[in-house]
Amino acid sequence: MIEDTKSNQNPSAQSAAAAVLQWYADMGVGEATSCVPADGFQQSEELNARKVAVPENTATIQSSRAPLNRPAAPSPQAPRPVPRQPAAAPSMAMDEVEGLAQACTSLDELARTLDQFDACPLKRTATQLCFADGLPGAHVMIIGEAPGRDEDEQGRPFVGRSGQLLDKMLACIDLDRKSDDPAGSVFISNIVFWRPPGNRKPSTAEVMMCLPFVKRAIELARPRIVIAAGATPAQALLDTPTGITRMRGSWKTITTGIGEVDVMPTLHPSYLLRSPEAKRFAWRDLVAVKAKLLAEQ
Ligand code: URA
Repeated sequence: MIEDTKSNQNPSAQSAAAAVLQWYADMGVGEATSCVPADGFQQSEELNARKVAVPENTATIQSSRAPLNRPAAPSPQAPRPVPRQPAAAPSMAMDEVEGLAQACTSLDELARTLDQFDACPLKRTATQLCFADGLPGAHVMIIGEAPGRDEDEQGRPFVGRSGQLLDKMLACIDLDRKSDDPAGSVFISNIVFWRPPGNRKPSTAEVMMCLPFVKRAIELARPRIVIAAGATPAQALLDTPTGITRMRGSWKTITTGIGEVDVMPTLHPSYLLRSPEAKRFAWRDLVAVKAKLLAEQ
C-alpha cells in the first residue's frame, strides 16, 4: 500500500486535498477514473442499450495493491487516436416537438413522453429524467434552470443545496412542496429536464427542445403564478434577452393555452448561495408573490 505520510501528518495539505475533491464534486465529477482510459460515451451507450444495472459495489478506482495496468505509451510515429464524439441526438423539427407536448393530456403522460423523448442531447449524458416535484395544481409553480448532480441522482428537481435554500425561502411565505393544499404548496420543475454535463448552463438549443414541454407542464399544472428562478428560465419563458437583475421583481405575463399566467422573475437560489447579500432582493420578490396570492384569495 502506498502511504502519503507527508500529507497524513500535515493538516493543511489534507484540507487542501479535501477542498480540491469538493471542487471536483461541485463541478459534477461523479466518479474517480482508473489508470486505464475508459470511453464513457461508449459505456453509457452500452448501458442504455442493454439497460444493465451496474452493481453498486463496482469499483472505479483500482486498489493500490492491484498491478498497474498502464497501456503502452504510443510511439511518436503512431497516429493519434481520434477522440470519439457522442452520437448526435436524433433531430426533430420544432413543430413535431410541440405536437408531442400538446398531445399529452396529463402531467403523468407528459413525464412518460419525456422519458421516451431522445431529441434533447442532454439526455445522453444524464442519469435519468428529472421532471417535477411538489403538488400539481398548486397555485404557485417554480421553474428553475437545470437539474444538478443531486437532482440527476434522485430524479427530482431542487433536492440539493439550492433546493434546501429554496424550501427555506418558500417557508417564509407559508409554502411547502409537501403540502396537499393547493394554496399552501408549490409545483416545481426546470427549464430543461436533464442535467447538463458538469452543471454547465444549458445551451439555447437544449432549452428550445424542452420549452414546449415546459409550457405544456404549465398548462396541465394550471398554476396562478409562475416563479422563474434565474436568468435561463426567465429569458426562455418571457422570450427576452434582458438580464435577470433588471427583470427580477416586476410582474410579467405569458400567454398559454389556459390563458395568461403571471410570472415573477427572481434570482436563482444557487446565485443566492454564492451572493448572500442578494437575498434581500429575492425576499422582496417573494413578498410580492405572497401579496398577489392573498389579493386573489
Ligand atoms: N438548480 C436548478 O435550477 N434546478 C434544480 O433542480 C436544482 C438546482
